[in-house]
Amino acid sequence: MHFLLRIFNFFFGPERTHGAMVCLLRIVGCIPGSRWFLRKIYAVEDPSLEREVFGMRFKNPIGVAAGFDRNGEIYRELSAMGFGFVEVGTITPRPQSGNPRPRVFRLGSDRAIINRTGLANKGLDYAISRLRTPHDGMIVGCNIGKNTITPVEEQATDYLKAFRNLYLHADYFTVNVSYNTTFKEYVPQSRESILEILQPLFEFRRGQDQYRPILLKISPDLPDEVVDMMTDIMIDTPLDGIVATNATTSREGLKASARTLKNIGQGALSGAPLTKRAIEVVARIYARSKGTYPIIGVGGLMSPEDIKAMLDAGATLVQLYTGVVFEGMSLVRRTCKMLVAETKGKGADEQTSTTEQ
Ligand code: FNR
Repeated sequence: MHFLLRIFNFFFGPERTHGAMVCLLRIVGCIPGSRWFLRKIYAVEDPSLEREVFGMRFKNPIGVAAGFDRNGEIYRELSAMGFGFVEVGTITPRPQSGNPRPRVFRLGSDRAIINRTGLANKGLDYAISRLRTPHDGMIVGCNIGKNTITPVEEQATDYLKAFRNLYLHADYFTVNVSYNTTFKEYVPQSRESILEILQPLFEFRRGQDQYRPILLKISPDLPDEVVDMMTDIMIDTPLDGIVATNATTSREGLKASARTLKNIGQGALSGAPLTKRAIEVVARIYARSKGTYPIIGVGGLMSPEDIKAMLDAGATLVQLYTGVVFEGMSLVRRTCKMLVAETKGKGADEQTSTTEQ
């Protein structure tokens, strides 16, 4: 399938290819028994891969990053294909069409993607219609954001509206404060502006019978002091965790020519150029919070080794986007196999050392 998608991409570009993949998976999902079949082909299941986080059992630590299943249309199929969880969205209260196309660009030589989709999504009501039915044990997070036309002074209302309406339909929430939709907009970075968004969510949650973890998704472009400030918010408030990181606006160290980059124009960069910074940010959060909070590590995880490095840096779970675009679903499978082999190896080592004693 990955090979076919690459051919499709050559002719039709990355956004149409993604759309075709979503369409195909939706069709496949309608065939009785298809998910069982997908699981047989793709998923690696082993008790050693399971993780208990936020009081939930994840069947493995590898999830789908926001933007991949924007409207909650293929989370069942992605889950059957071996992902441990899926973060749908970013969902905004009202539907929005995003920026004009073309707006997603593939940089083959850099194993990267530049996008300026502008949080295009079908809105809250549509997302509810997709997420309303029981998730059958799959873990589905909702990444929520503000509509582009909502003035910054009213942004907290947008986040609360999405949160309140989706509350019963998601297993956890990610508050997206790191995605600059138009590249002209202000991205909240001060403690006050973040708390202004989070406090109403905490308050709403206090009145509910069921608990939903709330995470904050941060940008890799934040200076280290601001990453520390975000970590302190997690320590000082009922925030449950951090998703680090979103895509970057930086263009440092790219192989693509200045001319190519100029033709593409503005956008957020994902993929291999982000690996180092994303791991650095996770390690920083982990050190400051003394490893006591869950961190979802995302950004430039292109190989099982990158994923292992992210987990070693302190990520409790990881998410993939660009890695799957370049490597296909085999990336999840290969990583799960590597993690299982490692645990078995460790188990054997421990047994040998006890026998030797
Ligand atoms: C994204 N990403 C993203 N993030 C988010 O919080 N909300 C969104 O709607 C989107 N949309 C989106 C679209 C496209 C086309 C891409 C490539 C990325 C960012 C994504 O979730 C992730 O944080 C970054 O891409 C970094 O991870 P990778 O891609 O390097 O694995």
